[in-house]
Amino acid sequence: MSIPIYTYDAIVVGAGLAGCAAALELEKAGKKVAVITKLHPLRSHSGAAQGGINAAFSDEDSVELHEFDTVKGADYLADQDVVEFMCQKAPETIRWAEKMGAAFSRTPDGKIAQRPFGGQSSPRACYAKDRTGLTLLQTIYEQAHRYGVTFFDEWYAADLLYEDGKVYGVAAYDIKNSEKAIFNAKTVMFATGGYARSFKINSNAHANTGDGLSLVARHGLPLEDMEFVQFHPSGLSGNGVLISEAARGEGGILRNSLGERFMEKYAPNALELASRDVVARAIIQEIREGRGVGPRKDAVYIDLVHLGKDLIMERLPELRDLAITFLGLDMIKEPILISATAHYSMGGIPCDVRGQVRKNNDEFVEGFYAAGECSCVSVHGANRLGANSVLEALLFGRFVGKSMVEDVDGVELRKATQADAQVMTSELEWILSNNGDEKVHGLREELQQSMTDNAGVFRTEETLAKQVNIMKDLRERYKNIRIEDKSKIFNTELQEAIEFGHMLDYSMFIVESALARKESRGAHYREDFPTRDDENFLQHTMGYMDKDGNINLEYMDVVLGKHELRARTY
Ligand code: FUM
Repeated sequence: MSIPIYTYDAIVVGAGLAGCAAALELEKAGKKVAVITKLHPLRSHSGAAQGGINAAFSDEDSVELHEFDTVKGADYLADQDVVEFMCQKAPETIRWAEKMGAAFSRTPDGKIAQRPFGGQSSPRACYAKDRTGLTLLQTIYEQAHRYGVTFFDEWYAADLLYEDGKVYGVAAYDIKNSEKAIFNAKTVMFATGGYARSFKINSNAHANTGDGLSLVARHGLPLEDMEFVQFHPSGLSGNGVLISEAARGEGGILRNSLGERFMEKYAPNALELASRDVVARAIIQEIREGRGVGPRKDAVYIDLVHLGKDLIMERLPELRDLAITFLGLDMIKEPILISATAHYSMGGIPCDVRGQVRKNNDEFVEGFYAAGECSCVSVHGANRLGANSVLEALLFGRFVGKSMVEDVDGVELRKATQADAQVMTSELEWILSNNGDEKVHGLREELQQSMTDNAGVFRTEETLAKQVNIMKDLRERYKNIRIEDKSKIFNTELQEAIEFGHMLDYSMFIVESALARKESRGAHYREDFPTRDDENFLQHTMGYMDKDGNINLEYMDVVLGKHELRARTY
């Protein structure tokens, strides 16, 4: 039976803030666009962003300070031309979202409220209580619907159609009934989100398995700066669920088992509001040196009691609920237990400021775009500042949608054929029929535990080399899986097996890139190379996967600018 081929001007994969914002622009411009998402759009992980979205609005703040904080936070690995673009467009992006209907929290005199976040010179994070991402996602999704964007909810994009430097669609199947389809398009955008699920303790949704990155890498296209994984300082102890930086922004204090405000040692000026990499390392260091708290001594306290009930209920109600639900601790009455949690990935699918995906350092892939966490437009460099990710997703999603509008009429459609479903069909058939003795969930647990142990907050040559071997072994064992569910209806076991294949592929990029970067910069901390080495490593890593799954690394220049290299202290 032949597989239907649908034709569009633009296909967007992913329905978080970046995907919805891009689709909205395309639809408004009269282009035929569809969004494919493996979730319901409102379950996209953008909705989990709690604390805020940055824009320099206030009289004490400026676009230039926002740029400086971002470049410094990035440990100078961000491309400064793109940082300038983002910071300049940030205030307009907030106004745009507000006009769409996003209800931000207000000050008593009616202005949009802004709170301090780590690494900022001035309170800059606009917020909607502690549900900022959800508020924005609901707004943009509603507007996308209003303008008539077509959504293929609960469809799984299983292959990227790519040949000779040109992308012309995706192959996907309907999770509800396993029906396959080919989406043939002049332009394709990936907005497939983050991928911190390869770590045991993480703040990410179950869906954040990095499928988009591996689909790109399997076609021999590069992934950039994959070694830079952000560990957020405050995940709930034991499960990593996010306790927003807003908790520290509002005045939360970190303490160890001796009751010490230990950030005084690590960041005497910024204290709890140093950049995330600095605070996360401090927490893990306290735990390593035996000053952890909680039943396993693997956490520290965040104390919010002094903020009082009224402020907590007004600005942090969701956080309070989460701590009560998962730990049975009420932050109004007592400190709660937190530790570092894998949260965000600075690296991803390399693209320029228009969202065009790179084929290599000098060339671009025709018809292919990316935005949001799956992409690496390089505004975050080696460490992202809190509340810059929601900004990046919304702002670049919108502007990349505009780039696609500008470009699409000049692109000739490469016609898809039945053969374009072959990779997807073979993968599904292989997983359904394979009769080995490995279980995907067991392999996934081994991957997550070992990535945390060997490629986490602290890394060395020895731990990373060990992890390369573990990954090779896991890849071999993956060939020997068996799933029990052979049905066509909501086969989540099948989906998890596909996703695990993606996790293995992109995790290999993280580990190989980290092994090769013999310096410490931002979130990448090598105990055996504890300082930044601008002479040898002020460059972006570009990784390419060959047919045997080996990762080959090249490097690309960083775009420097007016913010000169300095030692980074907080
Ligand atoms: O802490 C937070 O609210 C997370 C925000 C972010 O990652 O930007």
